[in-house]
Amino acid sequence: MKNKSTLLTKFQRCRKYSIDICEPLVTEDYSLQAEIFTSPTKWHIAHTSWFFETFLIKPHFKNYQTPNPQYAVLFNSYYNAVGPQFSRNRRGLISRPTVSEVLEYRSVVDEYMQKLLSSDITAEQDYLVRLGIAHEQQHQELFFTDLKYSFYLNPVFPTYQILSDSEQTSLFATQTIATPNSWHNYDGGLVDIGSKDEVFSFDNEGPRHRQWLQPFTLSNRLVTNSEYLEFIADGGYQRSELWLSDGWALIQKEQWQKPLYWNEIDGLLHNYTLHGNQPINPNAPVCHLSGYEADAFASWAGARLPTETEWEHAAQSQLVIGEKSKFLTPHPIQDSHTSADLTQLYQQCWQWTSSAYSPYPGYKAASGAVGEYNGKFMANQLVLKGSSCATSENHARVSYRNFFYPPDRWQFTGLRLAKSQ
Ligand SMILES: [Fe+2]
Repeated sequence: MKNKSTLLTKFQRCRKYSIDICEPLVTEDYSLQAEIFTSPTKWHIAHTSWFFETFLIKPHFKNYQTPNPQYAVLFNSYYNAVGPQFSRNRRGLISRPTVSEVLEYRSVVDEYMQKLLSSDITAEQDYLVRLGIAHEQQHQELFFTDLKYSFYLNPVFPTYQILSDSEQTSLFATQTIATPNSWHNYDGGLVDIGSKDEVFSFDNEGPRHRQWLQPFTLSNRLVTNSEYLEFIADGGYQRSELWLSDGWALIQKEQWQKPLYWNEIDGLLHNYTLHGNQPINPNAPVCHLSGYEADAFASWAGARLPTETEWEHAAQSQLVIGEKSKFLTPHPIQDSHTSADLTQLYQQCWQWTSSAYSPYPGYKAASGAVGEYNGKFMANQLVLKGSSCATSENHARVSYRNFFYPPDRWQFTGLRLAKSQ
């Protein structure tokens, strides 16, 4: 039996934040779905509740009555062991339940979870609650990235949060210079990576194990917008020798010439943010790059992407902290010249690595239906390390393995350069 009060507080804080970030939206925004890879706000709000209902409430409270049995299908994302799922690419069609019905569903789930967490719970329930909280935090990040993508496709360019002129100046000021790039050398050798099991971690972060590293070098900071502009000006998107074959084919097909969210207004490049279109801050990290663009930039710069082992080994000696915009709206900001060896590890942009997302030696998926959480996605994706400006508080850790397909760029994704010595 596990102790409960701190877990209940953690649960309630997480659930409240999900509602807080929806606050600036109007009701119509809750149903926006731009593409198959994005989901509407309403679905995120319901699906995170479905997770607690399915894996904790239903097994524990035998007399529990769900507000609607069809929610089990509608809000199941991909758990085949649980049952059928509503088609992912039609989530934007969920006109019913309404927003208020979804919020009602959420409050029923909260009520039962409060009951559960006010009693003694088993070690398995404790794990599932922590998993449910971590899961909801992931969806809080997706809330922002999915909303941003949906808003961006609308030529009206809606905003999520409007800033005053002075707030705008402080967030998008471009006067200060970027932290100078410097290179830090690492000896390599036998190193340990992976979760230490001291705190909650996803099953894909373990087991902790040993890896061999050749000596390598890492850049102290992320690549900036001005550096990426140099790459573009130097014909980066026209030079096939810089690109992986799949990446080259993709940029021909999609006609990509710049990062996602860069657009021209009156001949000037702007960056669409959830605060609307803003001039590009040359010193802020370049963001919303696909893995292919990150890799091509690294080739152009005479460098490469780090492996996940290099990144994690180098970051292990540093605190899991970062500088974040003071506004609710996520947006990468420029570094304020901290003295740490490596800056911008967290809270700016997820950093692409060259490592294939595959199981660590000895990996075992969690037991039960939640074993589908990570393991079944271990093909054709790359690992990203760190965290982004949209990552929820206390969610990041050094062993975290995020993963996306190389063409994906609607997440807050950037890069840090590496070199072999
Ligand atoms: Fe999910």
